[in-house]
This record gives sequence, structure tokens and C-alpha cells, in this order.
Amino acid sequence: MKRILITGAAGFIGSHLAEALKDSGAHLVFLDALNYAGHPENLQAFSDLLTIVPRFGEDLAVVDHTGKVQSLGVPLDADKLPADAREAADPEEFSRLLAQAEAEGRPVLVVANLVNRPVVQQVMARVDRVVHLAAETHVDRSIVHPQRFLASDIWGTYTLLEAARRHPVERFLYVSTDEVYGEVPEGAAAETWPLRPSSPYAASKAAADRLAFAYHRAYGVPVIIARPSNAFGPRQYPEKLIPVMTLLALAHQPLPLYGDGRQRRNWIYVRDLARALVLLLERGKPGTEYNVPGTREIANLDLVRKILDLLGRPHSLIRFVKDRPGHDRRYALTGDRIRALGFTPTHDFDQALRETVVWYREHQDWLRLMMARDAFLREWYRERGLEV
Ligand SMILES: NC(=O)c1ccc[n+]([C@@H]2O[C@H](COP(=O)([O-])OP(=O)(O)OC[C@H]3O[C@@H](n4cnc5c(N)ncnc54)[C@H](O)[C@@H]3O)[C@@H](O)[C@H]2O)c1
Repeated sequence: MKRILITGAAGFIGSHLAEALKDSGAHLVFLDALNYAGHPENLQAFSDLLTIVPRFGEDLAVVDHTGKVQSLGVPLDADKLPADAREAADPEEFSRLLAQAEAEGRPVLVVANLVNRPVVQQVMARVDRVVHLAAETHVDRSIVHPQRFLASDIWGTYTLLEAARRHPVERFLYVSTDEVYGEVPEGAAAETWPLRPSSPYAASKAAADRLAFAYHRAYGVPVIIARPSNAFGPRQYPEKLIPVMTLLALAHQPLPLYGDGRQRRNWIYVRDLARALVLLLERGKPGTEYNVPGTREIANLDLVRKILDLLGRPHSLIRFVKDRPGHDRRYALTGDRIRALGFTPTHDFDQALRETVVWYREHQDWLRLMMARDAFLREWYRERGLEV
């Protein structure tokens, strides 16, 4: 039986990947700090999940640009923890709980930050394969607060790679992004293209992408790199384009669209992406990057119009607002490498978009939960006329 670690499993893509692997016979270990986008409720498919909260280990502190020492760990919101979560006061107790869950065949959620070295080392010693998804992921937030992205996306990846160097694994899949190539005005970026990221988010992902590659070259860690295009589907945190526009349209509120709305993105349904990641974990070649393109390239404006049409709302709800700084006009990927492994997306874009919009309409309880826990999100929607 394989033991697979998924970091970021309480987030959007991670929870879908976890579901895709649920009946694979693998023992699943999830590691997630439960930042504002990570919620144990996203793992509801795992009724026998054992949640473990290590109460030992390390945090990351840095001297910021004003000379102050700052902790960059993600503060844990205790209200998010399931009532039956088990605390591990020290490494011995943690080891005992991990072993017990494995013996009982129960999946485990370890609530810890990637930068917590002793915790990550222990987890790594008990798994055979890794899919590393945990990251700060919102471009807008990265423009306001780049430090968290450097801490989680770069230092967190470094901590995980170091652990894999000391406790060898069979495969280490790093999930990068199409944004590492920067703007692609025409054609499509091949894996051999130079990386020219435009936001602190994309730059931190590019740094981690190359660090992972270097750990393969320098230390032989069996790193495989996935660079997916924009994902969409149920449970995507309601700060990203499709859920934001859907929720505002549902509430008959104006839809703020950056610039002229002509930025083009390529979209992949999250369940197709989860399948692609499973395939790469099994068949990807270490030391190799794989683009994971989606099935539809579309301008943001046309996408938002589709959402309005699906909900029977008028296009006049769209409001053009000041563009985001450094906003790339277009991303596009070649897909020859992953196709050669036998991957083809199976979900039709329009059908998947319809199902996604319906999911948000029917999961107001999920939205209320996100709002209750995230003051920033609550305020953002309240300013735009939506009270949940
Ligand atoms: N969503 C997309 O369209 C897309 C496209 C390409 C690549 N990606 C990449 O896929 C991965 C997952 O994206 P997502 O959209 O599911 O993100 P998400 O924000 O929904 O989830 C991220 C998860 O990582 C956890 N996390 C963040 N920092 C952590 C830390 N320091 N320690 C432990 N856990 C931490 C969060 O708690 C959360 O559960 C990211 O690496 C992202 O860069 C996403």
C-alpha cells in the first residue's frame, strides 16, 4: 500500500485531489495550516478522518523591511478544528498518533505549517509519495502582502524538499502554475520557455518551481513539476474570479471587472486537473516539467457574461474597474508532454461551468461559513452590497 502526503488538502484543488485518491487503496496523509482558504469541511468526504494538531515545532520569523522581527507562520484559528481533533504535545505522541491512524487505515489531517520543520520531517518519514499544493494563492493578496507568499510558497517548499532529502520518497510532485511564464501575448508557452512571472505570487511559485528542480539535480529528490492553467469548480475560495462573479450575480449586485475585461485565461475543470495530478504522480518522469492546459481559452469579459446568462442576470451588472497592477493579458500552454502520458480532459467547459455555478447557488451554507471565519472576505463583499 502506498502512503501519499497531500499538502494543502483542505484547500480547493487539494480537496479534489484527495477525493480522486480516496478509493485508490493508498493511505492518505494531509498537511494543512488551515489559513483563510483552508477548511476541514472541504474534506467532508472523509468521514473517518483523524485530525492531529501538533503543539510543538518551529515558526518562521524574519526581519521585515522596517527592521521589525515578524512571525510569518499562519496563526491557527482554533474554531476551525473539528471537536474530535487530537493534540500532540511532543514528537513522541505525534509519532504514536500517526502510526495508530496508519494501522487503523484512517486518513489523517495534520494541522501544521509547512515551515514547521520537526513536524514536516516526521510526516515525510512516514510517506512514499508527495503532492505539494499548499501555498498562498491569491494574486491580489500577494500584491498587498508579499511576505506571506515568500514564507509559505518558497520557505515552505524548501522545508518540504529538505525533509524529502533526509527521508527519501519515491515521487515528489510540485504543483506550480502557468503564471510562472508571465504574459504569453500569442502562441502557447512550452515547458522549455523562460519563466518571467509578473506578480509576487507568480514569482514565489517560480522560485519554488526552480528550487524543486534544483533539489532533483543536486540531491536526486525525484521531483516532478506540474504547471496547470486556471482551475475552476466547487469549493474554490470565494475571492477567485468565477465564485466572486457568481456570488455577486446571484445577489443582483454589480460585478467589478478589472481593466477592459479582455484578459484571456485558459480554464481547466478541477476534477480534470485532479486526474492529471494523479497521472503525473504515477507516470511523470522525475526532473521534468509538465504543463496542464485546460479546455477553453476565454476573455474574462466573455466568461462573466456566460455566468450572467446562466443565472438569468443582465450584462448591465458588469462594472469596469481600475486594472490590477502588472495584470498579465494572456496565459496559454502547450500540452504535448502530458498528452504523451495519455491525459485528455474529459469535462466539457460549458457543462462544467454550469455545474459550478449551480454548486455555488446551492451551497450558501458553505459561503456563510467562509464569511463567518474571514473578516477580510466579509468586508470585501459587504462593500459590494452583499450581506450573507
Ligand atoms: N487555483 C488555480 O487556478 C491554480 C492554478 C495553477 C496552480 N495552482 C496551484 O495549486 C495549489 C493549490 O491551489 P488552490 O487554488 O487549491 O489554493 P487554496 O488557496 O484554495 O488552498 C491552499 C491551501 O494551502 C494551505 N496553506 C497555505 N499556506 C500554508 C502553509 N504555509 N502551510 C500549510 N498549509 C498552507 C491553505 O490552508 C489551503 O488549504 C497552489 O500551489 C497553487 O499555486 C492553482
